[in-house]
Amino acid sequence: MQIVDSNIEKYLGDLYGPRHQVLAKMEAEARERDFPIVGPLVGKLLYQLARMVNARRIFEMGSGFGYSAFAALRHAAYIYVIIERYWWALAAEGGEIHCTEGSEANREKGETYLREAGLQHRVKYHVGNALEIIDQVEGDFDIIFIDIDKQGYPAALDKAVPRIREGGLLVADNVLWSGKVTEKKADISTEAIKEFNRRLFTRTDFAASIVPVRDGVAVAYKI
Ligand SMILES: C[S@@+](CC[C@H](N)C(=O)[O-])C[C@H]1O[C@@H](n2cnc3c(N)ncnc32)[C@H](O)[C@@H]1O
Repeated sequence: MQIVDSNIEKYLGDLYGPRHQVLAKMEAEARERDFPIVGPLVGKLLYQLARMVNARRIFEMGSGFGYSAFAALRHAAYIYVIIERYWWALAAEGGEIHCTEGSEANREKGETYLREAGLQHRVKYHVGNALEIIDQVEGDFDIIFIDIDKQGYPAALDKAVPRIREGGLLVADNVLWSGKVTEKKADISTEAIKEFNRRLFTRTDFAASIVPVRDGVAVAYKI
């Protein structure tokens, strides 16, 4: 099931306009490899969210080759927020994004793209299991973004919740999972996403919504 009508997707894509050349290259690579990046519409949303909470520390679970971390230097990049803060004197306050990725090859590609755009110095790529790496990185985060294997979503929620500051955001991609969340008898990944959504929406310390753009993005504000 396509969540958003393809004509609307196209309309929005046209409305948002062209992207930074490195992002366009990343999108081309994603198409070639059939690799699931968040894409420009969600990238723009991430950028806006980061600006809204004045994000300086972001932890990303499942970074692939860096598209969502980069997510639009000019038009949709939430890493841009961090870089911008860095340039404009908040470096001392520790503006940074932690990327986590299971594949060394993706890390290498991600770092190459980020270097090409001059963004590498604010990004720390960790290779391994995001659910373990988060325990090794100290401190709270303004935003934790979840985009790992879907079976890992409930565990990712448990890990993320205590690490987000009050007024910060938990953001998760693919929470409508091509509409499969509406199926009664679902596969393991779908069941995990349904559990994640159920648990997130029954928490009293988070105000959660799902933005039904692309594959569904959960946005939850820590009260
Ligand atoms: C959907 S892709 C991420 C795409 C990326 N967020 C973007 O939009 O550019 C998911 C990535 O998470 C990685 N991954 C899956 N489970 C993981 C885990 N538990 N820890 C770290 N990385 C994981 C996979 O290797 C894959 O590259």
